[in-house]
Parts: sequence; structure tokens; C-alpha cells
Amino acid sequence: MSSTKSTASEAPTGARRDTLTITDNRTGKQFEIPVKNDTIRPIDLRQIKLQSSDFGMMSYDPAFANTASCASKITYIDGDQGILRYRGYSIEELAEKSTYSETAYLILHGELPTQSQLKDWNYNITHHTFIHESIKKFLEGFHYDAHPMGMLISTVAALSTFYPDAKDIFNPDSRRKQTYRLIGKMPTLAAFSYRHILGMPFVYPDNDLSYTGNFLNMLFRTTELKFHPNPTLERALDILFILHADHEQNCSSTAMRIVGSSHVDPYSATAAATAALYGPLHGGANEAVLRMLVEIGSVKNVPAYVQSVKAGEKLLMGFGHRVYKNYDPRAKIVKRIAYEVFDIMGRNPLIDIALECERIALEDEYFVSRRLYPNVDFYTGLIYQSMGFPMTMFPVLFAIPRTSGWIAQWVEMLLDSEQKISRPRQVYLGQDLRSYIPLDHRS
Ligand code: SDX
Repeated sequence: MSSTKSTASEAPTGARRDTLTITDNRTGKQFEIPVKNDTIRPIDLRQIKLQSSDFGMMSYDPAFANTASCASKITYIDGDQGILRYRGYSIEELAEKSTYSETAYLILHGELPTQSQLKDWNYNITHHTFIHESIKKFLEGFHYDAHPMGMLISTVAALSTFYPDAKDIFNPDSRRKQTYRLIGKMPTLAAFSYRHILGMPFVYPDNDLSYTGNFLNMLFRTTELKFHPNPTLERALDILFILHADHEQNCSSTAMRIVGSSHVDPYSATAAATAALYGPLHGGANEAVLRMLVEIGSVKNVPAYVQSVKAGEKLLMGFGHRVYKNYDPRAKIVKRIAYEVFDIMGRNPLIDIALECERIALEDEYFVSRRLYPNVDFYTGLIYQSMGFPMTMFPVLFAIPRTSGWIAQWVEMLLDSEQKISRPRQVYLGQDLRSYIPLDHRS
């Protein structure tokens, strides 16, 4: 679990009981509530009532600020320590030693693949990169200035109409095939959207290339017969994909789980997760950061912008996190990669504005007191812009690698015997029963 700080005073001598004793001061009654994994089950609160006919007590947690929605073995985050691990492996080690394809296998299967497993995995992903030709027809229906995230959400959802077998969600062979298709086709859908916006012909997958190499091929190949990706850019993008592969119960993974809990097919659930990621408070933040840096315009304007943030008029995009109350470990790695990409593509002048924002924020009481640090989105946009991507493509570059995390979360939810269709309760504060007023009697 994300770091939880229990500040229990020393229990009285005697056998320790893993329970809470709750006294309802409205009635003087006491209740023993079991504690497991440092959590209680809100359903155990239902016994707390004023009258026996009452529905009973619920927990109330808008935006799930302190609610575990599931048990998971995929990703571990310690927000205070700035720790991120996929299946127990640190993000730092995976970024240095692994590839995105291998990391996606790890996230989905729970273990690093053997050589033969990785060979089969890469073969299957590579041989599911093509999309049905009909999808090109409605990609062409979008305006030239359509946001590629809108195109991606639409085309991912459309995949469900080409693969009705995906509805067989409790068949492991079917899930495996949809996994190959989703991970294999997301780069193709993204690249085709990008080429449509540019008014350039679609570039088909090249099975000789790596996952990120082929993606670069579909994005940037022009008249050459064979695209040769720049190895530094190919590796930089691969590391960025590793960093974005999963992040436990974030907004889009929660969308994947909640929508998937209705037992819809994985393409429809992935479209919902992609839509959640699109928001500027989530995966859309990398685009919002670049727009913010462009708006600031120069280092000398940073103090005034920071003042507007402290006045509550704006957010410092790319800063803050629900879980990390320390530096996002991914942001440190992204910052290092930025300079490697700048060495190839030239220094992005906006980095100076970003560094000044970070310098001020890390020492200013407003940000320090709220434990606001750069998150994964703060520097990634600078790299993507230097690699030649338009800002609107930045969230798409987040969605592609996160697909493996979304699928892993979806499968874990489906196979969790404690999970069922998500259907929260509410606290009703609306009108009590009242009679209908005829139209000519309304003031
Ligand atoms: C991602 O969840 C994940 O794991 C997401 C992600 C992943 O990999 O899936 O890590 C990817 O989405 C990263 C986050 C990208 N978003 C942004 O960079 C947008 C800017 N950040 C904020 O919107 C905000 O920090 C959130 C949404 C990220 C977190 O919001 P919380 O946890 O709900 O925090 P909050 O809004 O309650 O903020 C607490 C205080 C508030 O001030 P007060 O009301 O106490 O006075 O901090 C302030 C906020 O106003 N605050 C900010 C701020 N973020 C929070 N003030 C200025 N700028 C900011 N960026």
C-alpha cells in the first residue's frame, strides 16, 4: 500500500487485538471493528445506528482521498519516501536495465520473462500492430486540428467492434489475445492520428524494429524505404514508456477498474481509461505544462506567475501529487533523459523557465508547506517537444505505455474474488418528498 502512517499509542499490556474499539458518543454504545492491512472495512460501520431501523453508518470519502478500492500486487508507491516499484522492482533499476516491452511483460505477468518468454511476447506484440483498414476511414473523418487524444479514445473504443471475441473476458486465451492487440495497436492508432493531423500518408508498422523504434517509424518516416530510428531517441522514448507503464490506483486505472467491473470488453474499458487520462489534472498535465511554460515566456516572468499561483488563480502544472509528498522518482529520471535528448535535438530553451519554476517552488513556503514537488509530467513535455511532437500528442505518449498497466489492473480486478460491479453509496442532502406543481402554478 502507499505509505500509511498509523500513530497508535502503545496498546495496554495483554494480547494485541487487531481491532478498533469505536464508541458512538451519541448512544454510548461500543463497537469492535476488525483491522486488516491497517484498514477497516466500511461495511463493518453499518452496525453503528441511532435506531435499529437505521440504514447504519457509512464512510464518506470524496475523491477517495483515504480509501483503498482494491488489494493489488502490481505497483507499490511510498509517497513520503518517493519510492515506485513494479512487482517489487525499483523504477530506477527498470529504467536503467529493462525495456518497455520487458517491463510490460513484468507488470502483466508478475515476473521478469525468460528469454523464450520475451521472444514469444515480442513476436505476439509485433504481429498485432496492424489495424483494420476500416479504421483509417473514420480517422480521416476527423478535422485536421482534431486533438489526437479525442481520436485515440474513439479508435480504441472502435476496436471493440472489430473484436467481438473480446467480450469473453473470463477466457484467459481471449484476454491474452486482446492484450497483444491493445499493446500492439495503441502505437499504430496514435501514429495514424498524428499523420492524419499532418495531412501525411499513414506509415505501416515495420516488424524489424523495436516497439519504440517502430512507433518512431510510423510517426516520422517520409520517403526513405527503411526508417532507421536514432538509437538515443529510441532508447529515451523506451525509458519514458517504462516510467509511464503503471502507477497503482490513479484516476485512469480506477476508471479502467470501475468500467471493467461492469464486465464490458477491455477495449471499451481502455477507452474510458484513456478519457480519464486526457484530463489536465492527470495525463493531460504534460501538455498543460508546456502551455504554461510558453505562457510564462521567459525566466524573468516566473516570479509573477508563481505569485498568481500562490494567489490561487492558477496551478503550477506538473507540480503536486495525491500520493507523492516528495520528489516523484520518475521526474528525476525524466530530467536526466531531457539532457540526453537535447544533446541530439538541441537544447529546448523552455528548460530554463522550467528550472526556474522548480528552483522557486522548492524553496517557497506555499509549495513547501503543501509538499508540492515536480511530478512525472513536469519535464516530459520538454523532451517530447524537442523530439518534434506537437503538444497535443503529449498525453497520447502517456496513454500508449500506460495501456499495459491498465490491462494489468483490469485483469487483477476481474480475478479478484472480493471485487464485483463498482457501485458507491452517497450522502443524500437533497429535497425531501414534495408534490408536483402544475406548470401554471409555478412562480
Ligand atoms: C499524474 O495519481 C497518479 O498516480 C497520477 C500519475 C500517474 O502516473 O498516473 O502520477 C500522473 O496525473 C501526475 C499529476 C499531473 N497533474 C498535474 O501536474 C496538475 C497539477 N497538479 C494538481 O492539479 C494536483 O497537485 C494534483 C491533481 C496532481 C493532486 O491534487 P490533490 O492530491 O487533490 O491535492 P489538492 O488539490 O488537494 O492540493 C492540496 C493543496 C491545495 O491548496 P489548499 O487548498 O490546501 O490551499 O495544494 C494546492 C491545492 O490548491 N496545489 C497546488 C498544486 N497542486 C496542489 N497549488 C498550485 N499548483 C499545483 N500544481
